[in-house]
Amino acid sequence: MNGSITEVIRKRFSCRTFLDQPIKEDKQRKLSEFLAASSTGPFGTRARLALVAAAEYDRQSLKGLGTYGMIRGATGFIVGAVEQGPKNLEDFGYLMEKAILFATGIGLGTCWLGGGFTKSNFAKKISVTHQEVLPAVTVIGHIAGDNLSIDRRRPRIATQRYSMEQLFFDQKFGQPMTPEAAGVYAELLEMVRLAPSAKNKQPWRIIRIGQRWHFYLQRTKGYGKGSLIFRLLRVADLQRLDMGIAMCHFEMAARELGVPGNWVVDEPVIEGLGDTTEYTVSWIPAAGI
Ligand SMILES: Cc1cc2nc3c(=O)[nH]c(=O)nc-3n(C[C@H](O)[C@H](O)[C@H](O)COP(=O)(O)O)c2cc1C
Repeated sequence: MNGSITEVIRKRFSCRTFLDQPIKEDKQRKLSEFLAASSTGPFGTRARLALVAAAEYDRQSLKGLGTYGMIRGATGFIVGAVEQGPKNLEDFGYLMEKAILFATGIGLGTCWLGGGFTKSNFAKKISVTHQEVLPAVTVIGHIAGDNLSIDRRRPRIATQRYSMEQLFFDQKFGQPMTPEAAGVYAELLEMVRLAPSAKNKQPWRIIRIGQRWHFYLQRTKGYGKGSLIFRLLRVADLQRLDMGIAMCHFEMAARELGVPGNWVVDEPVIEGLGDTTEYTVSWIPAAGI
């Protein structure tokens, strides 16, 4: 990867306007090699990711996406299939985001696409089996020079983020984490804050209890799992993908900044947790940190 991961995370944005030209061969090769090498997420589910060229009908169908993210000039996609399993969507989010950061590092533009497209076309491209699902795809290509001016959604959406104090808590929910209290972890939390999320809902909440960092999904009411629109359109539970994306940003930054640790599923007992807040995973620092 070119550049440090924290720089790459800061550089990434959801690119929706691409140059109308295929991805250069050397970049295609690098990315395909990267995709072929990464296959298992932190929870152990296997996924297959592949770079495919956009056919004309994909480009046409993207035009119909409506107000949520007009995609222009798409020439490629990263498509993926993940095994069925308990934390498979988190694993998929993690692995796809790793690919997105790699692509960003070699200068390509990307945008997650969670819904509103015909999944079966993409499923065919990667021959999804009955044991697998295709939760989302990523559109990828060369960033158009006029991306900023044409894509009026980007500056507005990209700059909107909850503050650190709204997302991260110290010892109990409702007690905001401050950069001073977070110390070396402040930068890791910042990397989570800059992560992409479906409809920019930023559903990740992290609470430190003792030395452990517990990751929770704060579900958005009426959006995602169980909601009518998601059921009708058979959209995957995108907010679980968001959790995997957050894990990817946190872990990659931790490795780069020399803050060792690992993931465990060991839910703490927290009283008064609302019924829209679900535990995902905990980061346990290596001894001595
Ligand atoms: C799981 C997931 C699904 C998404 N689906 C779409 C989509 O269908 N269309 C779109 O234009 N953007 C989509 N996005 C991009 C988000 O809108 C974007 O990440 C968010 O608004 C923050 O902006 P940024 O990525 O530029 O920082 C998706 C993002 C994620 C993580």
